[in-house]
Amino acid sequence: MRYQLAAVLLFIVSSLNVFAGAAEKIRLVPQIGTHQFPFFDQPTSVWNYNGQMPGPLIRTTVGTTLAVEVLNRLEEPTSVHWHGLRIDNAMDGVPGVTQDPILPGDMFVYHLKLIDAGTFWYHPHLNAGEQMERGLKGVLIVEPKENLPWSQDLVWFLDDWRLQEDGTIYPHFNTGHDLMHDGRWGNVATVNGKWKPTYNAIPGERIRLRLINGANARVFLPVLEKLNANVIAVDGKPVTTIFPFNQFYLAPGNRIDLDITIPVDAAEETYILNDSFTRNTFPLATIKVKDEIPTKTPVLNIPTADNYIPATLFDKVYATKVWDLDAIRGGQYGIGWSMNQKLWPDADTGDFEIGQPQKVVFKNSSSRLHPMHIHGAFFRVLEKNDKPVVEPFTRDTVLVGPRESITIGLLPEHEGIWLTHCHIQSHADAGMMTTITVD
Ligand code: C2O
Ligand code: CU
Repeated sequence: MRYQLAAVLLFIVSSLNVFAGAAEKIRLVPQIGTHQFPFFDQPTSVWNYNGQMPGPLIRTTVGTTLAVEVLNRLEEPTSVHWHGLRIDNAMDGVPGVTQDPILPGDMFVYHLKLIDAGTFWYHPHLNAGEQMERGLKGVLIVEPKENLPWSQDLVWFLDDWRLQEDGTIYPHFNTGHDLMHDGRWGNVATVNGKWKPTYNAIPGERIRLRLINGANARVFLPVLEKLNANVIAVDGKPVTTIFPFNQFYLAPGNRIDLDITIPVDAAEETYILNDSFTRNTFPLATIKVKDEIPTKTPVLNIPTADNYIPATLFDKVYATKVWDLDAIRGGQYGIGWSMNQKLWPDADTGDFEIGQPQKVVFKNSSSRLHPMHIHGAFFRVLEKNDKPVVEPFTRDTVLVGPRESITIGLLPEHEGIWLTHCHIQSHADAGMMTTITVD
């Protein structure tokens, strides 16, 4: 039962990568398919990758170069963006910025040189409010060279769906209501495409649990009942100091990796991961401990980040870019979400100098949520409402709450034009996107 998830995962990676720098080839086929939710007799029509929702779990090793052939079998253009990866800008998957859209029937090959180990994910970056909501998304895990002997490495991809009574996906995307609020929130939350799934464990096990928020708009505040967990990585990067898991806002785009030890006397115990962001707490998934002889808890020396982007780097700052986030009139929906009063593609862009520490202020003038994401970089939160904040980790997505102002520090390291946007897809579709040019 160890690695029970592994059985479910499709190892499309052709072979285990033993040689650093080796190339691996995989294929993703965005297509129209179905997904069976437990509430309906009929499967629900979805769009997915390779017939699976979430898409194939890609697991590979740091140092690998992945060649991902994306063959578009949809009836509209698409692209694949690799959320959180620091890669060649031309492979970032943003039509109109880094590549042309992949037209129906066409193929585009992404060459991904994987320099960071961690939990990442992939999704389209075109008509994303609809394409992602119909089911196009998946997880990419980059293992470190020296793998730690966890007894299980669980991947829980959190998502939600807006399903109608007949089981179909509510077909109006980016409605006025969604736009005026926090985007499209679903009425069914799933983990790995399943409703309240149960995963098995045995007493004494030491589990790495990776949580990914792949929802279009919903923020999760996950709580693990009765079980102690430590946060060991955020947004793909190891933390600088391991800390207890509690009150972590997992906004769309965010990932956290947890270290969990099942107590040796936990036979037949169940542990529930609840979401507590909204007024109604509800279960997401359960860990059921079997009545078995306890396994010996592995001793792990969990690596922490080598002070990647130290906060002191920003003591002497060369530049600050401020983006004011607010709703304005205009754009294709009549209601636009703006950055400095501009709507994508007529954006107020950033221009950052390579190697020069840079501050960015996201100033939310609205009463809505904006999980702001920067492509191709990790950053550090420095201030919240002008007060210093110390987060022992870096991120690629930060939730900016109503009327909140968040200052981040970024070290521009990778040349190119990098998209920066709200990860609530309706807000992004309604204009809340810009680019940062690093040169
Ligand atoms: Cu998940 Cu532009 O990103
Ligand atoms: Cu937003």
